[in-house]
Amino acid sequence: MTETFKNDVEKGLNATPKTLPSKYFYDKKGDALFVEIMNLPEYYLSRCELDIFQNKTKDLIDKLQLDPNSYFELIELGARDGSKTKELLRMIDAKKFKFDYFPIDISINSLKLLKQDLNEELPNVSVQTKQGDYFGVLASLKESKLPKIVLFLGSNIGNMSDEMAAQFIHNLSAILQAGDKLVLGVDLIKPKELVLPAYDDHEGITAKFNLNLLRRINDELGGNFDLNLFEHQAEYNEEEGIAKSFITSTVEQKVTIKAMGKSFEFAAAEKIHTEVSRKYNDAILAKIIANTDFRICNKIMDSKEYFADYILERS
Ligand code: AVJ
Repeated sequence: MTETFKNDVEKGLNATPKTLPSKYFYDKKGDALFVEIMNLPEYYLSRCELDIFQNKTKDLIDKLQLDPNSYFELIELGARDGSKTKELLRMIDAKKFKFDYFPIDISINSLKLLKQDLNEELPNVSVQTKQGDYFGVLASLKESKLPKIVLFLGSNIGNMSDEMAAQFIHNLSAILQAGDKLVLGVDLIKPKELVLPAYDDHEGITAKFNLNLLRRINDELGGNFDLNLFEHQAEYNEEEGIAKSFITSTVEQKVTIKAMGKSFEFAAAEKIHTEVSRKYNDAILAKIIANTDFRICNKIMDSKEYFADYILERS
């Protein structure tokens, strides 16, 4: 892990313009900061998707076209605390559907908490946690030929470029069979006044979350980034529909990372690109899945129409 982290950081800081991968945000401190982000007034994404799962549960179940007489598997990629999924589980349990729930997450700790919580609240639901990276775990679930529904919520796909997203969805088709479904939660394209504050909140939590990456490099790779000499910067281009986060060096400076035995020069106002958060519409998603075995069969939006859960079917 440290070795790939080191290599990725070295590669990113040697590139022009400089970049760092967003997947490294999520260490223990980053996870806690992300929970804070989800509770921010500006960060509408989590609330909107919860609105869908709480208030459009029946619609969601109808559109998933579940067969009450046959067993199915509900698989969630990156389940976290499962708060949205719980709403769905509660209703499919009450309707006596026969299914197993497989939450997949990289964090064994969050899986343990999720299982405990679900066993208490929904004792009839079979919860089989799977720790690991998505495709490793999915490969092990491929053996069962039961119908599958895969949940990939929270606009987590938004951190991927469109090419990566297309590849990701294409790779999913190898694990699924005809008729299986993918529920893809995505943030929709909206005006800048709504999107930008979600990535640049007034409390500065998102700034801390972004700069935590430098703190992590300091701690794990022996870096000497001075966090006071860098700042968080968010941009959103409505036409393109992509929010971007950067870490900007406020002065000309040199930073040394011991694990590499190397220094990196920063010009004043030089930016490190740390994240893309893509926003979608029907046409963008259709283009992304054009060369995959999936087609869009439905979409469900929250009451404000800020966010959508698309239902894709594997042919
Ligand atoms: C977890 C990828 C959906 O891009 O909105 C939140 C991460 N970054 N604030 C997003 C994030 C800054 C988030 N996702």
